[in-house]
Amino acid sequence: MQISMTVNGNEVASDIEPRVLLVHYIREVLGLTGTHWGCDTTNCGTCVVLMDGQPVKSCTVLAAMAAGHDIRTVEGLATAGTLDPVQQGFMEEHGLQCGFCTPGMMLTARALLDKNPYPDDTEIRKAISGQICRCTGYATIVRSVQWAAAHPAGAAADVAAPDEVIEGTDTAVPDVADTEVKA
Ligand code: FES
Ligand code: FES
Repeated sequence: MQISMTVNGNEVASDIEPRVLLVHYIREVLGLTGTHWGCDTTNCGTCVVLMDGQPVKSCTVLAAMAAGHDIRTVEGLATAGTLDPVQQGFMEEHGLQCGFCTPGMMLTARALLDKNPYPDDTEIRKAISGQICRCTGYATIVRSVQWAAAHPAGAAADVAAPDEVIEGTDTAVPDVADTEVKA
């Protein structure tokens, strides 16, 4: 059967068997291997991609069901060579260990922040509750998402922002974003 969809902003069209899962279509037909494939039973969440902005487990979706929809994979998180704040957060807060769950975690975090730019700890944990990190780095993953929420324009914007100078002195007040307390 013929299907077409948008993947990371590009129109793609293929002739596939109707039984092909979205995860296999993304990895094997499109060659986007950043989408990982773990349990194949809708448990681990490592295969999460965004479909029309919503996280879906791509091992649970037929490629045919994604036809006509907008798909975003981890390869589409960075824009114009600039990392998404979520990707920067995972770097800053060491949100990955082996990295296997990381693409799905980051896409879920992006969907959360698009809907709720200021999630609290409980909301972040609830958002990623359908995903398993076998390295069990949940505390750093939560901190990574918190970092992204605190830096919606990314780290580069913080670096570019001049420190405030107190009137009449030469004392610079560091940007609070640079002095946040880490739990
Ligand atoms: S591979 Fe899809 S949920 Fe585990
Ligand atoms: S970082 Fe290894 S599974 Fe999550």
